[in-house]
Parts: sequence; C-alpha cells; structure tokens
Amino acid sequence: MASKIYQCIEKIGNDIIENKEFLTDLDREIGDADHGVNMARGFTEVLAQLPKDEEDMGKVLKKVGMTLLSKVGGASGPLYGTAYMKAAGAVAGKTSITLSDGKEMLEAVIGGVKMRGKAQRGEKTMLDALEPAMDALTKAIDVGKDTEECLEAMCQAAQEGVEFTKTIRATKGRASYLGERSIGHQDPGATSSLITLRAIQAFYLDNLK
Ligand SMILES: Nc1ncnc2c1ncn2[C@@H]1O[C@H](COP(=O)(O)OP(=O)(O)OP(=O)(O)O)[C@@H](O)[C@H]1O
Ligand SMILES: [Mg+2]
Repeated sequence: MASKIYQCIEKIGNDIIENKEFLTDLDREIGDADHGVNMARGFTEVLAQLPKDEEDMGKVLKKVGMTLLSKVGGASGPLYGTAYMKAAGAVAGKTSITLSDGKEMLEAVIGGVKMRGKAQRGEKTMLDALEPAMDALTKAIDVGKDTEECLEAMCQAAQEGVEFTKTIRATKGRASYLGERSIGHQDPGATSSLITLRAIQAFYLDNLK
C-alpha cells in the first residue's frame, strides 16, 4: 500500500498534469507558454521516481523538491523546488501531521519562495495565492475552526488571490516585460499554487477526514 504522503503527491501531480494545457495557455498570454509544460514534466518525473512506500514526509517532500529542481526549468523549477525542500524541512521525520504542522509548512514554503524569487505579495506571482492562503489558514485556526473549514478558508483565499492577479501588473519574471499589458491576465504560477492547495484539500476530504 502506498504511503499517505505518496498518495497526496500523486493527487497533486495528477492535477497539475491534467491542467498542463490550461497553465500553458495562461502563460501564453503573459509569458512564454511553458508553465504547464514545465510543471507537468516535473511531476511526471516525480511520480516516476518517488518511492511509493516511504512514510517519512520529510524524505518524500525533499525528493519531490530535488526532482523539480533538476527537471523543471525556468523560474518555476527553482521556486517550486525550493518550496518543496522547505516544506520537507518543516516536517522532517514525521509520518502524519496536524493542522498547525501544515501551517508551519506553508510558512516555510512562503519564506523559501520569497528568499529564492525576491518577490513580495502584489507582484503577480505564486505569492499572491500562497500568502492570502496562509493568512486565511492562520485566522481560521485561531478562531477554532475545524480542519475541513480551515482548508476551505485557505483554498478560498488562494482562489481570491488568483482572481486578484488579473487586476495587477507583473513586476517579476518574464510577465513584467509586458508592463501594463500584463493587467487583465491571470498569473500561471499563482494558478498552479491554487491547484496544489485544492489537491491537498481534496486529498484530505477523500482520505484523511
Ligand atoms: N521572482 C518570482 N517569485 C515568485 N514567483 C515567480 C517569480 N518569477 C516568476 N514567478 C512565477 O513563475 C511563473 C512562471 O513560471 P514558468 O514555469 O512559466 O517559468 P518561466 O517561463 O521561466 O517564468 P518567467 O517567465 O516568469 O520568468 C509566474 O506565473 C509566477 O507566478
Ligand atoms: Mg513561462
């Protein structure tokens, strides 16, 4: 039987691969039409290489990060690679996690993406999905919501963050070359981050609830 963490990564990977065309179309509008191709290539390799029975979440997530770093080019390879490496560091040695561990992972992910990409919220990047998601998750935990409600609040905020990227100008990455013309388009990286969070939520509802 495959470990829970393997199954969760499998769900994320399959959802990213299913959205390959969609993510690439978004990147065609404001970038170089490769975000979906990049991410799908990375996760195809992740699913081929990941040991199915490893239960240590830190080891599995580290392997995901290293594979994405080596197989995904462009900006998103190092950024998602770093994100998974940082997530790994937050849960090293654990085989299951609590909601507050999940929050620590997301915090570590955001810290890693910011360090690597030198971007801030509001620059039309994946941070515009991840940071609102983090804020909403923190708030939901603090007011005592249950896990299902917390995950929905997190994903809802990420979704609103993705919508918000349509209204702002890109100031990082290739999309920034378009200046004002990047307004009106949804950011591909924020969208793949939302797909990831929704996959985690769906995995929880189907397997852990
Ligand atoms: N400095 C950054 N910090 C955080 N996210 C970033 C940064 N630069 C780009 N991104 C994210 O990466 C996505 C583009 O990923 P893609 O796989 O298309 O790589 P790329 O074509 O090399 O990217 P880019 O053209 O933006 O440099 C963007 O939509 C954005 O969300
Ligand atoms: Mg691109």
